[in-house]
Amino acid sequence: MQESPNDNHHIIERYERIWLIFGFLMILLCLVLIAYTVLNQGNTIPQGAGRIDPTTVRTTSQFANPRVEQVGGEFVVYVQAFSFGFLPSEVRVKRGSRVTFYVTSPDVIHGYYVEGTNINLEVIPTEIATVSYTFDRAGTYRILCNQYCGIGHAQMDRIVVEE
Ligand code: CUA
Repeated sequence: MQESPNDNHHIIERYERIWLIFGFLMILLCLVLIAYTVLNQGNTIPQGAGRIDPTTVRTTSQFANPRVEQVGGEFVVYVQAFSFGFLPSEVRVKRGSRVTFYVTSPDVIHGYYVEGTNINLEVIPTEIATVSYTFDRAGTYRILCNQYCGIGHAQMDRIVVEE
């Protein structure tokens, strides 16, 4: 009935092995989920697209005329996120087309989060944030500011309509 120290040693090793395998499986699961997300929704890691003088945003910059441009089969959207709203206030694009957003702010930090997607930009004055996305589903998507930017923060809510 007596256990030798050696048996004990084996039991501990077995548990260690089980936990190691469990740990590796968890890492593998994480990588699979990341790959699945990227394949499904595309790479939507926000990037910087250069710097801008915030005092020119509303007047002389490429954002002075906030708009949706169609370039071939793709769309380019120039967005002002300001206190308190977004321009253009409505973005119409086509399902299945690649859409590239350029977003900047003439005043304080805002957010540009498109509900139901993983588009989520931090909009910092002096910087141009960009991300590309393809909408696979037609419908309306709310755009939300997720940086507390002042008294009208909650009003920063617009809709993307695609057809
Ligand atoms: Cu803009 Cu909150």
